Parts: sequence; structure tokens; C-alpha cells
Amino acid sequence: MLLEGKVAIVTGAATLFGREVARTLAGEGASVVLVDIDDAGGREAAASIGDRAVFVCADVTNDSDVERIISVTLERWSGIDVLVNLACSYNDAGAESTREQWLSTLNVNVVSMAMLGAAARPHMAGRGGSIINLSSISSKVAQTGRWVYPVSKAAIVQLTRNMAMDYAADGIRVNSVSPGWTWSAIMDTLSKGDRAKTHAVAAPFHLTRRAGDPQEVAQVIAFLASDRTSVVTGADWAADGGYSAMGPEQAASAIPLLEA
Ligand SMILES: NC(=O)c1ccc[n+]([C@@H]2O[C@H](COP(=O)([O-])OP(=O)(O)OC[C@H]3O[C@@H](n4cnc5c(N)ncnc54)[C@H](O)[C@@H]3O)[C@@H](O)[C@H]2O)c1
Repeated sequence: MLLEGKVAIVTGAATLFGREVARTLAGEGASVVLVDIDDAGGREAAASIGDRAVFVCADVTNDSDVERIISVTLERWSGIDVLVNLACSYNDAGAESTREQWLSTLNVNVVSMAMLGAAARPHMAGRGGSIINLSSISSKVAQTGRWVYPVSKAAIVQLTRNMAMDYAADGIRVNSVSPGWTWSAIMDTLSKGDRAKTHAVAAPFHLTRRAGDPQEVAQVIAFLASDRTSVVTGADWAADGGYSAMGPEQAASAIPLLEA
């Protein structure tokens, strides 16, 4: 198993995507602290994983909650090896976004990653620790009607480099993972649970011609969390079905159109 004996914290663990990450890390041998503001969802997620999972209901934008996440983890397992910063806000009104929307979304998506990293750092030092920050394909392209979320995800890629630079002194690696469209709570809601429809909509802009599965992204996160990737830090890993490899011509041959 990749993560035997390791202790991991996963934020945003109540939702479909986050709980799959927590489940995968536990399946690889880690003890996992699931964190979310969704109390009922978080309890259920932890219970479904079993003995090596505990849930902490906490708001990652609240500094005393951040301290509590760390203290509960240390009380239970006396060290931290892995931190997965996955909690996010999609609150974004594009060009009409208010200052409050900008600040609150950046607070959840970016600032909280830095604050949790800082709180975990002394307890990860010297243990070969690994931090994984969830970015997105949205960090690199413009998407209609979306400003705040993509800016936050681009900031995460840079924050990851900064954290990697300074945390290297403590032997802590820091990487980001950028998924493409991934089956998740928002897709479940918008498509009314229709996975086939979600794959069909995603097909033209993913080389794999489908949306990803949270389990597939969770495997990338588990690998980055493990000692197998001891040479990897400060990197952004695409887990996007080839979305970022594709250009505006998509997977269609445009040149023959000149001859038509
Ligand atoms: N779903 C996708 O297709 C996709 C694509 C690329 C990247 N991502 C990234 O993957 C991650 C998960 O995405 P998702 O679609 O599953 O999101 P989601 O909205 O379903 O889940 C986010 C979780 O974070 C929790 N959360 C929000 N604010 C919090 C706070 N202040 N404190 C603690 N918990 C809080 C929510 O309760 C929720 O459980 C995000 O970082 C997202 O940017 C998702």
C-alpha cells in the first residue's frame, strides 16, 4: 500500500469528490481526518470509511477552526504526513462579481490553503510530508461568465510553487493537481444525475472523450502523497483527460477544411 502508517488531512471531504479522495487515501493505508463545514455529510463520509477516519466539522476560513483541525489530528495520531487542500467555493458572478464575492471565494480557495499549510507545517517537518492543493483546468483558460473561481485556481498554482520553495527546508513537498471535468456534486446536480449526458457534453474538449471520475483523480493525489513521488515538488499535475493538451482546433482536423 502506498500510504501505510501515514496521517492525512483532507478538506472539503464531505462532498462526492472529497470523500472519494479520503476513501482512496484510507484504502492505501493512511489514517484520515476529514474536514468540512457540512456536518451531516462529513460524519456520513467518515463513517463510511471506518475506524481509520475521523471527521472534524470546521470552517477553513476561521483561524481557530484551523488550529482545532491540527490539534484533533495530533491528539488522535500525533503527527501529520499529508494535507490535501480540496475545499472550495464556486461563488462567482463573472464580471458582475461583488467585492464580497471576490474576497469570500479567494478566502476559501486560496488563503485557507496557505493558512492550513502554515498550521500543519511544524507537524509535517522531517517526516517526508506532502501537501496537495486542488487547482483546475480553469486556472489556464478563460471560461464564459467566470472570473473569481478561475483566478483563485490560477493563484493556487503559484501559491503551490511558493509553498514548495519555502517548505523544502522542512522536507515537505507541495504540488497541485488540476482536474478537468470530474463527476462531482455540481455535475450530479446540474445534469440531474445523468452521467451519460455529462460525458457527452465533456467529450469534445477532453481527449478521453468523457468527464473524469473522482476515483481517477484521487489516485493521482494518493500517488503524489506517497514517497514514490519523492522527487516531485512545486509541480502542477494535470488530471484532466487531455483537456490542457488540446488547442482551440479540438480533436478535429481543420486543415482539410481549407481544401473543401
Ligand atoms: N468538479 C470538477 O469538475 C472539478 C474540476 C476541476 C477542479 N475541481 C476542484 O476539485 C475540488 C472539489 O470540487 P467539487 O466540485 O467536488 O466541489 P464541491 O463544492 O462539491 O465540494 C467542496 C466542499 O468544500 C466544502 N467547503 C466549502 N467551503 C468550506 C469552508 N469554508 N470550510 C470547510 N469546507 C468548506 C463544501 O462544504 C464541500 O463539501 C475543488 O477544489 C475544485 O476546485 C473540481
